[in-house]
Amino acid sequence: MKKIDVVLGLQWGDEGKGKVVDVLTPNYKVIARFQGGPNAGHSLHFNDKSYVLNTIPSGIFRDGTVNLIGNGVVIDPAILAGEIAALETAGNDVTSKLVISKKAHLILPTHRILDAASEASKGKTKIGSTLKGIGPTYMDKTGRNGLRIGDILSPEFKKRYNTLKEKHINMLKQYPDFTYDITKYEQDWFAGIEKIRQCAFVDSEQAVNQYIDSDVAILAEGAQGSLLDIDFGTYPFVTSSNTLCAGACTGLGVAPNRIGEVYGIFKAYCTRVGSGPFPTELSDETGEKMRNIGHEFGSTTGRQRRCGWLDLVALKYTVMLNGVTSLIMMKSDVLNTFETIKVATAYDINGEQVSHFPYEINDEIKPVYREFKGWNQDINHIRNYDDFPVEFKEYVEFIENECGVPVKIISVGPDREETILR
Ligand code: GDP
Ligand code: IMO
Ligand code: MG
Repeated sequence: MKKIDVVLGLQWGDEGKGKVVDVLTPNYKVIARFQGGPNAGHSLHFNDKSYVLNTIPSGIFRDGTVNLIGNGVVIDPAILAGEIAALETAGNDVTSKLVISKKAHLILPTHRILDAASEASKGKTKIGSTLKGIGPTYMDKTGRNGLRIGDILSPEFKKRYNTLKEKHINMLKQYPDFTYDITKYEQDWFAGIEKIRQCAFVDSEQAVNQYIDSDVAILAEGAQGSLLDIDFGTYPFVTSSNTLCAGACTGLGVAPNRIGEVYGIFKAYCTRVGSGPFPTELSDETGEKMRNIGHEFGSTTGRQRRCGWLDLVALKYTVMLNGVTSLIMMKSDVLNTFETIKVATAYDINGEQVSHFPYEINDEIKPVYREFKGWNQDINHIRNYDDFPVEFKEYVEFIENECGVPVKIISVGPDREETILR
């Protein structure tokens, strides 16, 4: 039996999961997405080219891999077909390497419209969702109304689609000021269904467990980040799925005792896109500098990402929730020119120092910082841990001591090659 390894984000998403999965893929035969949907944007960079994947697992560029979209994922056929077509145009073979769980739920055009209508109605209190219909689709899944990939094969599919669409159109009457037109969405959606039929629709829980039994190495690729988890994230400013390691169990049909290594990814600082609390956010020129150097603009929506210092209170919390066995630090190079680097080690809440992640994160929370001297040099070319400046090593070793988990991989640039295995 070969246990399945998991890669997931420990912050608010965009930690660099796509890059890490691409780097680790040569050690695996199967790469499997287990939750989320096209709200994700995973970037890969190699041979001077960049790619962004939304639904397709990040192993797709490596020959001989099986890329599996698990039951926990929600799929918009129009978006998935667009992703496949773009990769095919660039000369990649996709459909023979891509398999989809019959139990994955479908994002309907009206789910997207409901997402947009709900966000518009909330005004200033909006979640800042990616408007991909994620929340409404998971609501229909738990409400037991959803349509699944396997339903595409049923002769009743169109009828069931229309029933659910009508239900949504009735729900949209709650938003009388919201106007919409689904004609184009719907055309693309049905064309997308035809395209994705070229992939195998499978009982992926059976396939995954057979791989495990026959010692085939599987890497599960998380989307979003632990602080966006529906249960443990900064609710209600979260996504609608379990982004934690436990989500790999339910999103693929794998028992907890079959999980092996849990790779937890974090940026050397913090970012967040969309609304919601962010204790170490820097709304000043330091945050602006991080955004510019780190190119912190959303891969899916192009929105500015909010930036701030590393938050160890939050990081220790998500390391605990996921049972992280190895840490991976990304975007270390972005801090090359900072004289002083800060890390939040506790929160001051009304004069009291708190070291656990509290129920409510509000403006009363003031981070307590520990300051580090910056390394003030370019580290992008470094490929051996021993060659890093002493200030950099102090930073890494402080983080791993605090978290109680070793930092085993360090990333110093977006390219595959700009990676140090320790
Ligand atoms: P994901 O959603 O977790 O896969 O992350 P995204 O792809 O949305 O965002 C990460 C961004 O950082 C992408 O543009 C990557 O190309 C880039 N990136 C990844 N690792 C590094 C790194 O070590 N240094 C720098 N400068 N950029 C990186
Ligand atoms: P990857 O996989 C960063 C955020 C949205 C919003 C909230 C809810 O690339 O790390 P949703 O559309 O899911 O209902 O939006 O979650 N969000 C992400 N932020 N990276 C992501 O994915 C995200 N997916 C959703 O900005 O605040
Ligand atoms: Mg992303």
